[in-house]
Amino acid sequence: MTALKALNSPRQCRRLIVPRIARLSFALQQFKPTSDYMMEVLMNNEGWIKTCAVEDIDVEDVVRFDHGDRTYALYRNAKGDCFATDGHCTHEKVHLADGLVMGNLIECPKHNGRLDFTTGEAKRAPICDAIKTYPVKIDAGMLFIKVD
Ligand code: FES
Repeated sequence: MTALKALNSPRQCRRLIVPRIARLSFALQQFKPTSDYMMEVLMNNEGWIKTCAVEDIDVEDVVRFDHGDRTYALYRNAKGDCFATDGHCTHEKVHLADGLVMGNLIECPKHNGRLDFTTGEAKRAPICDAIKTYPVKIDAGMLFIKVD
């Protein structure tokens, strides 16, 4: 109610608004984003999604990562390199994160079909269709994937 009354008078309006603008301006000047924050914003702007710490994925293992309405599988091979694919098997809709990593292959838990998670190629029946792979990037120990 006070603000509405002040808007009826230019002088009162200035007294009410100017200090608030000054405080907001001061607050914005004090805002110093960290490099982590800036990196996250930058990567998000380029389509990168922050997933988890690389250490959260054991060597020769796979974890599930959900983002929005999509699911992904994140892998580390025996060398410790990271990879990412769609999360569901291309044979049936089963989470590959429940499967077994063997070298650069993921064995699906349902029918034991195999996919090469570095290329997406189907390697053993009953899987016939390749799986989509995604570029990965590591920054400050965090794994980022680039999705469409
Ligand atoms: S559901 Fe994956 S091999 Fe059948």
